[in-house]
Amino acid sequence: MLVAQLTDLHVVAPGRRAYGVVDSAACLAAAVRRLLTLDPRPDLVLLTGDLTYDGAESEYRHLHDLLRPLPMPWRVIPGNHDRRATLRATLPAQHCPAGGVADRLAWYEDHGPLRVVALDSLVEGESHGQLDAAQLAWLDARLSEAPRRPTLVLLHHPPLPTGIAHMDRIGLRDPAALGAVLGRHSQVERLLCGHVHRAILWRWAGTLVSVAPSTAHQVALDLRPDGPAAFTLEAPAMHLHLWRGEVGMVTHEVPIADPGPLHPFADG
Ligand SMILES: [Fe+2]
Repeated sequence: MLVAQLTDLHVVAPGRRAYGVVDSAACLAAAVRRLLTLDPRPDLVLLTGDLTYDGAESEYRHLHDLLRPLPMPWRVIPGNHDRRATLRATLPAQHCPAGGVADRLAWYEDHGPLRVVALDSLVEGESHGQLDAAQLAWLDARLSEAPRRPTLVLLHHPPLPTGIAHMDRIGLRDPAALGAVLGRHSQVERLLCGHVHRAILWRWAGTLVSVAPSTAHQVALDLRPDGPAAFTLEAPAMHLHLWRGEVGMVTHEVPIADPGPLHPFADG
């Protein structure tokens, strides 16, 4: 089972650029082209939030058009740049299944041997993330009912202080409550996040927190406490999570740029 994770797409309306700089729609188109060259192709694509730049209907329609070439199922969660009602009204329902918690865009599905539990940390109008008690109880129940099914939990805002100060100020509030739930369920192979626009790993609450880079712009690596909020055009990438029962979950980072021709390891 091969799962692709794309995150922080920040898709703009046609003809626009994110922050006046980033042609994020062209970046996503390149990511889709790269994904379709993979052999084997991923069985499932997970988009871990900040699907759009402003949460506008025109942006969700553009996103849908850009993802149309994907022949495999693709599923989304919202990030702080999204808007629940517009996402729900614009994307076909199968991409963000209903049935989670109240008005949240939380969902779960079983795909092959895996369970995917998707959380909604969006606080409308704010940049930080939060999970309320109802959503944490729902997560606990979904994990309790399938304790032997290897599970991916999706969450836009990672629960870790990354060391990038301006991003940590808009992280997940009260991460300990989430950690208490995850710590009770050893089948959680990964907590897959976005938001920070960089590849980051952290062992936490009995699982591995894995943050994927953006398909568009990256947050500048600045570990000084007073580092300014800034982004760069470092190489965009996606993550591939390969599940094999006898091995477990292995994660690969795949740059989106065309890798060029193969060069065999043979003496010329
Ligand atoms: Fe983002």
